[in-house]
Amino acid sequence: MKGVMRPVNIKINENFKKMKQSYLFSEIGKRVRMFSQQHPDAKIIRLGIGDVTLPLTASVIEAMRKAVEEMGEKSTFRGYAPDFGYDFLRKAISDNYARMSVDIPADEIYVSDGAKSDVGNIVDILGSNEVLIPDPVYPVYLDSNIMSGNHVTFISANAQNGFLPLPDENIPKRGYVIYLCSPNNPTGAVYNREQLKVWVDFALETGSLIIFDSAYEAYIKGDYPHSIYEIEGARECAVEICSFSKTAGFTGTRCAWSVVPANLEASGVRLKSLWERRQTTKYNGVPYVIQRAAEAALSEKGHAECLELVDYYMANAAVIAELLTRKGIWFTGGVSSPYIWLKCPNGMSSWDFFDYLLNEVQVVGTPGEGFGEEGKSYFRLTSFGSREDTEEAVRRLERIL
Ligand code: MLT
Repeated sequence: MKGVMRPVNIKINENFKKMKQSYLFSEIGKRVRMFSQQHPDAKIIRLGIGDVTLPLTASVIEAMRKAVEEMGEKSTFRGYAPDFGYDFLRKAISDNYARMSVDIPADEIYVSDGAKSDVGNIVDILGSNEVLIPDPVYPVYLDSNIMSGNHVTFISANAQNGFLPLPDENIPKRGYVIYLCSPNNPTGAVYNREQLKVWVDFALETGSLIIFDSAYEAYIKGDYPHSIYEIEGARECAVEICSFSKTAGFTGTRCAWSVVPANLEASGVRLKSLWERRQTTKYNGVPYVIQRAAEAALSEKGHAECLELVDYYMANAAVIAELLTRKGIWFTGGVSSPYIWLKCPNGMSSWDFFDYLLNEVQVVGTPGEGFGEEGKSYFRLTSFGSREDTEEAVRRLERIL
């Protein structure tokens, strides 16, 4: 029975009214569902959201099975997980940093259910700051700051700067919260050491805080920093957020972490204490079984298996890249990143191109505009599909591009 609309007499967070109607990937999902209803026989290939398709690796599954057994025994059963993650996983993550010659003590690592959650939640501990966000970039940075009513300034990432904007004289020297994502979602661009050092130096000089999203670090080829803490001074100005989603295929399993260095301080308070206060109040941790699975993904064997997943997806990227090269369509990414960022052909806008591909060949991608104004004439294809789907998508695109 449909109820009568009855407003309740409370105030809402008015900032939500300033946001786009729906989250980028929800909007894509909606359009695809509508198309599907109108064309029930169409076989749609989804290369839109960066969702993995390969199963969890053998080490991960073995660790999960063992952990499930433990949960079924009185003597090894676990209730609430420790607030910031089990020691075994915090240590495994710390050891993983040590492999990159980065020293991150386990007590600066906070296990969570996703980089998306951490990126959105970190805003809780920050005040009303000026925020610098590259355009285009992963939409959660912008949306979570709009929700909090923060003032956002965009820094243009474009073909001229290789989609790797740096602080320049147009950015007044004052304290900001700066979001950086490298390898970048959606463009696939990767900051080298010198470029990242420019950002770290800028942050140190201006008293800014960098939120560094390294969710795609496993895809880096060549000598690029995998962690911002490879850059001198970063411990004094940066929080890092990383995830098992794209590395170990955990998009549906959910596990990530953030690093909040002990010496990071603002307004006379350690950010670490604030983050701990926030997490203990609003969050109850990742399940034991999942944390054991994540630990296994970081073991030597688990890590090697994860690299096989990465190689598989990168071979998909090569299949897409080959088509675009042959067709003379400009693109970037697909080398140190599972995303290919292409220029929409024939001057099409990104949503028009989205509709064109969906209607003509039933291939779904992500319109660049969803990542920011600068993405209006670009389009993102993910290499996280299966090989069969990727090859089929390329055959279909071949016909119309
Ligand atoms: C993407 O497609 O950009 C990502 O899968 C979204 C996410 O990681 O939340």
